[in-house]
Amino acid sequence: MKTRITELFGIRHPIIQGGMHYVGFAELASAVSNAGGLGIITGLTQKTPQDLAGEIQRCRKMTDKPFGVNLTFLPTIQAPDYPGYINAIIDGGVKIVETAGRNPQPYMPILQEAGVKIIHKCTSVRHALKAEKIGCDAVSVDGFECGGHPGEDDIPNMILLPRAAEELTIPFVASGGMADARSLVASLALGADGINMGTRFIATQEAPVHEKVKQAILSATELDTRLVLRPLRNTERVLANTAAERLLEKEKSLGSSIKIEDVIEEVAGVYPKVMMDGEIHSGVWSCGMVAGLIHDIPTCGQLIDRIMADAESIVRERLEGMLAP
Ligand SMILES: Cc1cc2nc3c(=O)[nH]c(=O)nc-3n(C[C@H](O)[C@H](O)[C@H](O)COP(=O)(O)O)c2cc1C
Repeated sequence: MKTRITELFGIRHPIIQGGMHYVGFAELASAVSNAGGLGIITGLTQKTPQDLAGEIQRCRKMTDKPFGVNLTFLPTIQAPDYPGYINAIIDGGVKIVETAGRNPQPYMPILQEAGVKIIHKCTSVRHALKAEKIGCDAVSVDGFECGGHPGEDDIPNMILLPRAAEELTIPFVASGGMADARSLVASLALGADGINMGTRFIATQEAPVHEKVKQAILSATELDTRLVLRPLRNTERVLANTAAERLLEKEKSLGSSIKIEDVIEEVAGVYPKVMMDGEIHSGVWSCGMVAGLIHDIPTCGQLIDRIMADAESIVRERLEGMLAP
């Protein structure tokens, strides 16, 4: 399958693995890239730019295919050393960066000068248009279903994707709620050039996370996510667990007086405990509604091959078969 995304990134299949905190290590990124998709290392999971440089080298040893690095621009007071991380990306020869969060504009010139292609992840048509305007090569459009931060507009992909297609000139991938060939074919029909998956890739053999995390995703249905941190305008879709219920109780009782300090226990330093130690109730962690469509733990190769083979049969048999001869 050839789309503007496979052409742009030089990949075989139009499938991207979105950056995921404490999941997007070299093991997963290289497995996705070796399977013909685009694997992405999560930049900020690496504590220092030197650590990111090391992770890029590790990934390069595991794959000779293109892979990218995610740079999430957080609304924090004490910003991480973004220039340092960007140097590690450029010096490491990485040619694709997935940006997310705040506007990546301040860092675009240096990345572009180094020949790095930028795909910006955003949750609204206006932000996608802004990304196009500032020179991003592509966008990843994250619908309300997505695991992680869906923004504050609550527009599901059935509307968001065709709206993005109406407005954008640059290619975009559909993100949020993507699990299988049906997701891919539907996204292409809605105007996207490929898909980006987060939660689905956690439940794979190569995802270097605790087995309990994978089993929690397998056990979850589409009803088992919660939206937290909305009163702080930093909405996050997380797996329903004891920490999420406690956090929602706090949101209810504190109302509009809630502050970030009130929720530290549920949000700070959670990811290593969950992803590495398997303490799945130790805090809130991102998970998409798509958990309801995840029933197995394949290798990345099996998953991507299955998506591409099934997509072909959906198009050639199911869809074409519906047309009058
Ligand atoms: C556990 C987890 C951690 C994530 N961490 C990040 C992150 O650090 N930066 C980022 O840009 N997106 C992050 N995301 C969002 C994913 O890259 C992707 O956009 C999202 O998962 C797509 O929705 P889906 O889970 O329905 O596939 C994370 C998602 C999950 C599930």
